[in-house]
Amino acid sequence: MEQIDVVTKDVKNFSLPPHMEDYETHRKTFHWDKIKKDLEWFSDGKINAAHNAVDRHVNNHRKNKVALIYESTSGQVEKYTYLDLKNQSNKFANVLKKLGVVKGDRVFLFLPRIPAVYFSFLGALKIGAIASTLFSAFGPEALVDRLGNSGAKLVITTPELKPKIDQIKDKLPSLTYIVVVGKNIETSGNVPITVDYHEEMKLASKSFEVEHMDPEDLSFMLYTSGTTGKSKGVVHCHLASIQQYYTSKLIHDLHDEDVYWCTADHGWVTGISYGIIGPLTNGATVVLYEGRFDPETWYSAIEKHEITLWYTAPTAIRMLMKAGDELPKKYNFSTLRHIYSVGEPLNPEAIRWGIKVFGLAFHDTWWQTETGSMLIVNYPSMPIKLGSMGKPFPGIHAAIVDDNGNELGAEIEGNLAIKKGWPSMMRGLWKDEERYKKLFKGDWYITGDRAKKDADGYFWYIGRADDVIKTSGERVGPFEVESVLVEHPAIAEAGVIGKPDPVRGEIIKAFIALRAGFNPSPDLEENIKKFVKEKLAAHAYPREISFVDSLPKTRSGKIMRRLLKAKELGLPLGDTSTLEE
Ligand code: PRX
Repeated sequence: MEQIDVVTKDVKNFSLPPHMEDYETHRKTFHWDKIKKDLEWFSDGKINAAHNAVDRHVNNHRKNKVALIYESTSGQVEKYTYLDLKNQSNKFANVLKKLGVVKGDRVFLFLPRIPAVYFSFLGALKIGAIASTLFSAFGPEALVDRLGNSGAKLVITTPELKPKIDQIKDKLPSLTYIVVVGKNIETSGNVPITVDYHEEMKLASKSFEVEHMDPEDLSFMLYTSGTTGKSKGVVHCHLASIQQYYTSKLIHDLHDEDVYWCTADHGWVTGISYGIIGPLTNGATVVLYEGRFDPETWYSAIEKHEITLWYTAPTAIRMLMKAGDELPKKYNFSTLRHIYSVGEPLNPEAIRWGIKVFGLAFHDTWWQTETGSMLIVNYPSMPIKLGSMGKPFPGIHAAIVDDNGNELGAEIEGNLAIKKGWPSMMRGLWKDEERYKKLFKGDWYITGDRAKKDADGYFWYIGRADDVIKTSGERVGPFEVESVLVEHPAIAEAGVIGKPDPVRGEIIKAFIALRAGFNPSPDLEENIKKFVKEKLAAHAYPREISFVDSLPKTRSGKIMRRLLKAKELGLPLGDTSTLEE
């Protein structure tokens, strides 16, 4: 393949002038206060992210514009206009009101990728509840942690997923309602009360007075993994929507004529910030594709829906590469204008392949659940240095700092840090002020990523500073996996690491010491994998297992994952002075 290291002119057709013509000029004149004016504020100075995403457009030329194109697993297509979205989210807000949900209550979505995601998420925001999403692959163990810690009052789910909630409902004293989206739902009056979604939506009025929210009031929360302990609830506020709106506009370059597809599930932050809030606040037409990843159906979705902007992830791109160069030749991708990637390092080879197949370079974007929106990015109008994450968004001050928070010079590896105060910055960790405080060093938010900056101001990702695993772009905490592993009757101890993988970025590898009386075998290995898949999550099981006699531990009994990883990769073992004798 031709060796390209810098892409200076991405765009095969600049038929639409980009919203940001020149990065440096824009950066110099930028101020968040100017962006605030693009959104609608209530006369009392309050705001609501759902009003700006949907209702606002019903009062302008977008009233009958298609807001959502849904393609089901069976290929059936449904379209919803902005007016439909307003009515449906109002109805859901009224359902919540009838059930006694009030401002600040936690409403969780445990749903596949169906339109009810949009209606319920936006409806929850309209009533002032804190919306949250759960990946449908989660098992009871992951669910009980998240629903329990947040004190969720209501969960909306489907008949297929509900049994996972039923298994744990006795451990969730705050859970009062389970709203079920499906046919012939058996309602029940016992707490948690089962409610039939379609029945209630039919009865509900489509008029609703949207709750006026303080910009700092919470809008959504998402549980995400750190290196130790259980997953933490990252909380975001209504003001964040101004940044989700403006990053969508400048980076994804959304114009009224665009059809935009974000492949991320709403269970992850990308699916919320850039599947729901950002693009809708720009008045875009958004595609919601229910099916699983599959090269043929993905390519055909681009062609069928005439997608112009496509936001996906490195693992998906590498899987498409694996499916070969003949398959894409069968499809017409001429509608695509820009393509983007997020979630894990995007290797230069994937960008080169994209240029060959789509005639476009994938633009890498860096951000986190905690940052709420894209912060370091390759913009349509800026040259791409292949392998770099790009440059900070206007209004964002990013730097490489040492462990004491001192800024480091060009080309020096250190901690990637962001000066606090950007609008979509998390507002806390749910019920964990202590842990939240530890994420900052003075004015710097320390991201947990290692990186460096070059002399031209481009940032280059190096790796995580901690043990967090990124597998197929999904963030997994080793502690959560280890905790489930040791619940298996055959397992005495377990240590879990991320092992580099050419397609998935990393895979989860577990080192396991068995209890007396158990012996390693392929059957036991399969049984352990199944155990984790069912209890924790389908994506969080160890694809590789090594049985060992014992695990390296510190004198205080902590498993030294760093050592496991170094041994696995044949790297120097580093400091072993704290190792148990
Ligand atoms: O390690 C970085 C990696 O994903 C982490 C954030 O994960 P999560 O909160 O799940 O959010 C993912 C989607 C916003 C980061 O700390 N990461 C994210 N984007 C990139 C990346 N690593 C390298 N390059 C990226 N573009």
